Amino acid sequence: MVKILFVCLGNICRSPMAEFVMKDLALKNHIDAHIASAATSYEEVGNPVHPGTRRKLAEYGISTNGKTAVKMTKADYNKYDYIIGMDSMNISHILRITEGDPEGKVYKLLSFADDNGDIADPWYTGNFDDTYRDVLKGCMALLNKIE
Ligand code: 4NP
Repeated sequence: MVKILFVCLGNICRSPMAEFVMKDLALKNHIDAHIASAATSYEEVGNPVHPGTRRKLAEYGISTNGKTAVKMTKADYNKYDYIIGMDSMNISHILRITEGDPEGKVYKLLSFADDNGDIADPWYTGNFDDTYRDVLKGCMALLNKIE
């Protein structure tokens, strides 16, 4: 079973979108996976998924019911095979939390699609369409890698 943790700053917009898109892809492609998401900050801990992410995923019949934001911990490093940030700032915060990446588990999501870019951040723009486009691109490429 492959274990995947998606990570962003607040764990209410981008990383929960990646979590539930990837769960949907894994289910449809019969991949045995444990998939979760977490934050690098305490900002939104305990809060539900942002309405923008919920609305966008609902268009595709995907529910985020029950998910609330959690903070990533150092112990997560040993629990997962892939620890995947959404942008370069996430990567530096993840590496601070894990105190390094000796097993080479930390990735930026779009790197699986041979793209150096960041997932579009909807926090200031309110644009969840671009975020979904980027998340789907990264998750499809990740699916390809683990299949
Ligand atoms: P996320 O979005 O990292 O994609 O969940 C944000 C959520 C909260 C904050 C920033 C981005 N914040 O500053 O509290």
